[in-house]
Amino acid sequence: MGDIQENELREQAIQAAVRYYEFRHRDFKPFAAGDRIPYAGRVFDEKEISNLIDASLDFWLTTGRYAERFEQEFAGFLGVQHCSLTNSGSSANLLAFMALTSPKLGERRILPGDEVITVAAGFPTTVAPIIQFGAVPVFVDVTLPTYNIDVTRLVAALSNRTKAVMVAHTLGNPFDLAAVSAFCDKHDLWLIEDNCDALGSRYLLDGRWRYTGTIGHIGTSSFYPPHHMTMGEGGAVYTSDTTLKRLVESFRDWGRDCWCPSGHDNTCGNRFTQQFGELPHGYDHKYVYSHFGYNLKVTDMQAAIGCAQLEKLPSFIESRKKNWKQLREGLSALEDRLILPEATENSDPSWFGFLLTVRGGGVNRHRIVRHLEGKGIQTRMLFAGNLIKHPCFDEMRKNGVGYRVVGDLSITDTIMRDTFWVGVYPGMTEQMLEYMVVQMRKALSC
Ligand SMILES: Cc1ncc(COP(=O)(O)O)c(C=O)c1O
Repeated sequence: MGDIQENELREQAIQAAVRYYEFRHRDFKPFAAGDRIPYAGRVFDEKEISNLIDASLDFWLTTGRYAERFEQEFAGFLGVQHCSLTNSGSSANLLAFMALTSPKLGERRILPGDEVITVAAGFPTTVAPIIQFGAVPVFVDVTLPTYNIDVTRLVAALSNRTKAVMVAHTLGNPFDLAAVSAFCDKHDLWLIEDNCDALGSRYLLDGRWRYTGTIGHIGTSSFYPPHHMTMGEGGAVYTSDTTLKRLVESFRDWGRDCWCPSGHDNTCGNRFTQQFGELPHGYDHKYVYSHFGYNLKVTDMQAAIGCAQLEKLPSFIESRKKNWKQLREGLSALEDRLILPEATENSDPSWFGFLLTVRGGGVNRHRIVRHLEGKGIQTRMLFAGNLIKHPCFDEMRKNGVGYRVVGDLSITDTIMRDTFWVGVYPGMTEQMLEYMVVQMRKALSC
C-alpha cells in the first residue's frame, strides 16, 4: 500500500512538472528576421524535466542511480569500458591529466618538469592542468582550414622529457588521430583527447570508424549547456583502461584508495584487512588516501537530465551535421573572402560550430562580427585564439619559463586575429540558417 501510494504521489508530481514544461517551455515561436540566433543552447523536452523531478524526489542528492545508469549507457554509446561522471569538462580534463601523474603508474607517470605537447589555439582548460601540476606545455602550431594540431611539428616538439600529448578536437573536427596516435605509440606517450567539443565525431582508423575520445588513452566530455548534450554543469572522463579509470575516480573522490559507490561499504571485501603505507594494519579502506585528490562528483539531478539527453544524442548529432552542411553550401560563394572550414581527412565530424577566417585584403573580422551581432546572430571567437598572449601567461612570458614553443605559431596568431564562428546547434531552423547566410553576404559586401 505504502509503495503504491508513493508511486502515485511521485507520478502526480512528475505530471505537474510536465504540465509546467508545456506551459512555460514548449511554446515554439516561428523565427522572424532580427530575432536572436544564439550560437548554442540547451534543447530539451518534458523527459528532462520528469527525470529531474524523479531524481529530486529521491532526495539522494549526490551521485546515485541515475549517475550509475548514465555512466553505463554513455560508455556503451561510445564503445569504451568505463565512463566516470564529473562536474564539468574542465574537471574532466583535470582528472584525465592528474590520473597520469599517479605514482601507481611507475616510470610512465608524469612528473613536474615533464613535457606535454599541445596547442595554444583552443580552450584554456585543456592546458591549465598541465601548468597547475608544474609540467611544461609545449606548444605547436595548427593548420587551416581544419584548425587542428599541425602533426608535421610533432617530431620537433619531442624531447627526453615528453610524456604526453593533450589536445582537443577543434569545434568537433577531429585532429589527425592516425598521425598523433602513431606518434604516441612510437614514443610511449600518453594521449589525452579533449573531446569536449566533439561528442559524436567519428574517425576512420585501421579500417574501423570509432568515436573521437576513444582512440587515445583517455577522452573527456563537457555537458555545459552549449555542448552537444547538457546536464547544466557536467563532464565525463572515459577510457577502456581499468587502471586509469580507478585513478581518475580516486582523484575525483577525495584521493581515496577505496572505490565503493556513494552509500556503499566494503565493495572490495577487504575493508579492514589490508596494509597501507605506515597506517595500522586493517585501517578502514574507506579512509585510505593514495592521492591528493579533489571532490568533483556530480549530483544525481544532473545525471538524470543527462540520461534524457543521451536518448536524443543521435538526433542532435545529425542536426549539427545537417546545419553545418547548409551553412557550408550557402556560404560557398564567399570562398574568395572567407576561409571555409573543412573536415579532417578520414573523419565524420559532429560539429560544435561553423568556423570562418577572413582572408584579409580589406575584409575585417571586427566589421563582420559587429554586423552579425547587430542582426541578432551570436558569434564566438575560437576561445583563447592564442592562449600564450593572455594575461594568465604574463609572468611566464616575461620570465620565459614554464612553457616551450616549437617553431612559430603563425596560424595560431591568424586565428586569434581573423577567425570567428557561428552556431549549428540543433535548436536552429532552416530559416535561421538561411538568414545567417544572407547576413554574412551583406556583411562582406558592405
Ligand atoms: C575544448 C574544451 N575543453 C574543455 C572545456 C571546458 O568545459 P566546461 O565548460 O564544462 O568546464 C571547453 C568548454 O567549452 C572546451 O571547449
